[in-house]
Amino acid sequence: MRGSIKMCVLVMIGAAIIFYQSHLSNTLVVRIETNQELPNAKEEMFVDGNGIGVAAVGAGNSGAVGILNINSNSHSQLALPPLYIITPTYYRAEQLPELTRLSHTLMLVPNVHWLVIEDAHTKSPLVGELLERTSLKFSHLVAPMPDKYKKRKVKPRGVSNRNRGLQWIREHATNGVFYFADDDNTYDLRLFEQMRFTKKVSMWPVGLITKLGVSSPIVRNGTFDGFYDGWIAGRKFPVDMAGFAVSVKFLLERPNATMPFKPGFEEDGFLRSLAPFEPKDIELLASNCTKVLVWHTQTKKNERSQPLDMVKYGTTNLVDLKKVIF
Ligand code: UGA
Ligand code: MN
Repeated sequence: MRGSIKMCVLVMIGAAIIFYQSHLSNTLVVRIETNQELPNAKEEMFVDGNGIGVAAVGAGNSGAVGILNINSNSHSQLALPPLYIITPTYYRAEQLPELTRLSHTLMLVPNVHWLVIEDAHTKSPLVGELLERTSLKFSHLVAPMPDKYKKRKVKPRGVSNRNRGLQWIREHATNGVFYFADDDNTYDLRLFEQMRFTKKVSMWPVGLITKLGVSSPIVRNGTFDGFYDGWIAGRKFPVDMAGFAVSVKFLLERPNATMPFKPGFEEDGFLRSLAPFEPKDIELLASNCTKVLVWHTQTKKNERSQPLDMVKYGTTNLVDLKKVIF
């Protein structure tokens, strides 16, 4: 009897040791020091049974300390201000590839809510299936461009979609930050962590814009000193759509803020509508605007494909493939 109790205790101790060791061996800690906005903070990257994460250790300028975990529903993520990513999109040959690429970027960002808003009357089931596969928090919405603008040669692209996104934020969000992320741009993951702590409006350079190659706030002696952009056109805020993020609270205090249906002046019109807000209030990110963390890439437009010869291929895999090809 005594012997079996001893045995039992030994087995339990053994099991505890094995459990502890297996946990240790699953945790890989890599120290990196990357975060330009938190000069006193160290980041630790880790891989464990819960996924990959980044932990900011020590207080930086913004005092942002927390554990970020890319596992979508983990409690540690909830400590981070949410990011609302507003993406206008529309049906075309490049739509699914663009959204596939952007979804894979966002899957690496903690505590994101992706608002995918189609310029269409009805939701595309293919876009819906793509969103379901991502495991991201998302809202799939539609906001067609009004017919009167559709007939114009130069259209206000993505405006009805973005305004729908603002409406959703007013109805559902209380804190955090939102960002207009077009479906075809290229985003560096560091951008999302930097914009997350925006108090009013933050800005940074955007690469591949106009003949100047970049659009950016100008920083002289460490402070804001105007804008560098190939197309100023009397704009108070001559910036690109990809070049700024806004605090949700700041938006909620401005119930009339909206984006105008005015091609070329969408950013300026929206930022002006955030009044009271002046260029001096801009929070400069990307290491005082010395880094390019987003690129205004543009994908070559592809022609619509030929219809499938159903007599020849009507009973083959090509029928399925044709459904995802424009
Ligand atoms: C530039 C700006 O970066 C856009 O934010 C701005 O809306 C646009 O110009 C403009 O001039 O109106 P650009 O790369 O030239 O962007 O435009 P697109 O990428 O073709 O469109 C911007 C966004 O709106 C994309 O996410 C796109 O999917 C969406 N879009 C475009 C629509 O929802 N409907 C359309 O008919 C066209
Ligand atoms: Mn674009």
